[in-house]
Amino acid sequence: MTARSIPRSHIRTARLNLRPTSSSDAQRALEIQSDWDVARMLANATYPADRKDMENWFASHEQEWAEGTAYRFAIEREGRVIGIVDVDGIAADEGSLGYWLERAAWGQGYAFEAAQALVGFAFSEVGLSSLVSGRAADNPASGHVLTKLGFTQIDSRELFSRSRGETILQCRYMLAR
Ligand SMILES: CC(C)(COP(=O)(O)OP(=O)(O)OC[C@H]1O[C@@H](n2cnc3c(N)ncnc32)[C@H](O)[C@@H]1OP(=O)(O)O)[C@@H](O)C(=O)NCCC(=O)NCCS
Repeated sequence: MTARSIPRSHIRTARLNLRPTSSSDAQRALEIQSDWDVARMLANATYPADRKDMENWFASHEQEWAEGTAYRFAIEREGRVIGIVDVDGIAADEGSLGYWLERAAWGQGYAFEAAQALVGFAFSEVGLSSLVSGRAADNPASGHVLTKLGFTQIDSRELFSRSRGETILQCRYMLAR
């Protein structure tokens, strides 16, 4: 699939504004991932969260967007960034859905609302045919979000979690357009 030129537009949902990320989001992301309960569910996160890593990662987002390999959005609720939702690892016509929210925003349906909008974006704007996602076996809330979005669990595998410093069991999911 050839990368399409997708405008860096906001996506608005009933309660949220999804805004393409930029370097200036690194500080807020650092705060959110400094919570162990968030970081331990993210296999690629470092714990404690590392400022330089975070700045470098956010600095690469505009380039990823231009290349069509990842589309990442800050989730804003009443002007405050409460988390990140993204589709990354885009190759051929498949990508991987991810999301993480600050603890204070959990349990209010925001992950589902933001992820549902991203699924629509991935299929309609990016033109993907399928999405994959994965969650730690001990993260049932994320499994619930994925199931509500229509994802089906395909398998589970052992995966090294950078944040936990150990191998965990990851449940993998798929959703076709
Ligand atoms: C996972 C996470 C994104 C969920 O965010 P959220 O905004 O609370 O999710 P939602 O409110 O949209 O939905 C959560 C659903 O899981 C359910 N849930 C919560 N805890 C649960 C549990 N222990 N077992 C089963 N279901 C659970 C909720 O009831 C809700 O379902 P409902 O809408 O039918 O009531 C959030 O907890 C988070 O950011 N965690 C840390 C990072 C992370 O885990 N990211 C995902 C990595 S795979």
